Amino acid sequence: MIQKIKQISRKKKDSKHKTASDTAQKSGKKGDEIIIELKDVWKIYDMGEVKVNALRGLNVKVYKGEFLSIMGPSGSGKSTAMNMIGCLDVPTKGDVFLSGKNISYLTESDLATIRGEKIGFIFQKFNLINALTAKENIMLPLLFQDMPVDERKKRAEDVLQMVGLGDRMDHRPNELSGGQQQRVAIARALATDPEVILADEPTGNLDQKSGASVMDFLRQLHKDKGTTIVMVTHDKNVAGKADRVEVLIDGAIVDNKKKREVL
Ligand SMILES: Nc1ncnc2c1ncn2[C@@H]1O[C@H](COP(=O)(O)OP(=O)(O)O)[C@@H](O)[C@H]1O
Ligand SMILES: [Mg+2]
Repeated sequence: MIQKIKQISRKKKDSKHKTASDTAQKSGKKGDEIIIELKDVWKIYDMGEVKVNALRGLNVKVYKGEFLSIMGPSGSGKSTAMNMIGCLDVPTKGDVFLSGKNISYLTESDLATIRGEKIGFIFQKFNLINALTAKENIMLPLLFQDMPVDERKKRAEDVLQMVGLGDRMDHRPNELSGGQQQRVAIARALATDPEVILADEPTGNLDQKSGASVMDFLRQLHKDKGTTIVMVTHDKNVAGKADRVEVLIDGAIVDNKKKREVL
């Protein structure tokens, strides 16, 4: 698997496009470059009579090459935060910087371009298309990358091999177990060779064994390839698999004292 990860990595990255592990080796310190920063981010959902303050002045820095988890109870704003980090939505107030660029005021079409180039998503419910096979599910987002069909096929096959599903490429989601479906979703996230992988409760719909295997895979990926991973979860044990944990309560990151009480 390690070999495969390296092969995929080599295909896309050229010499100017250094991986986080290259940078880490050079500087001797991992994670001194900030890849994503949320500064005093507010998200207020306007429901007419009621306004929901889902994020209340959220500050988060994501360092290049780190594996960060944001842990919080249900309703604390984790998915909303993930939408901001992943450029799926823009804040009501505050700023989001991606590689130093303020994306808070971009149009949906610009946000979509950035997402396609830089970010791979993994969701709790896998979000696979039931009518398509595993391979087709992975090939689909590559359509938007101007990739010839043969290359898309090859890329999909490579990433499916990488997640250990080489023998399930032509299966549809309902012919796969939950753990296998999540591995297809991980393969899909990896296929564009993104700078950052964002995972929203990636083990939330899995039994303990499949969840552990998905976490092992993410850890291995992070270790071998230096991919930046940001994961949100309500589960302390899952959060503990990351290198760094922040705690989110009521739409803001808590201070260290409160964090120690929670963790
Ligand atoms: N699209 C939406 N419209 C209105 N309220 C929302 C929307 N999405 C989330 N919320 C509310 O915002 C708060 C945070 O939700 P969410 O980010 O989904 O939390 P978590 O992922 O931690 O469970 C909750 O009170 C939720 O009900
Ligand atoms: Mg959520």
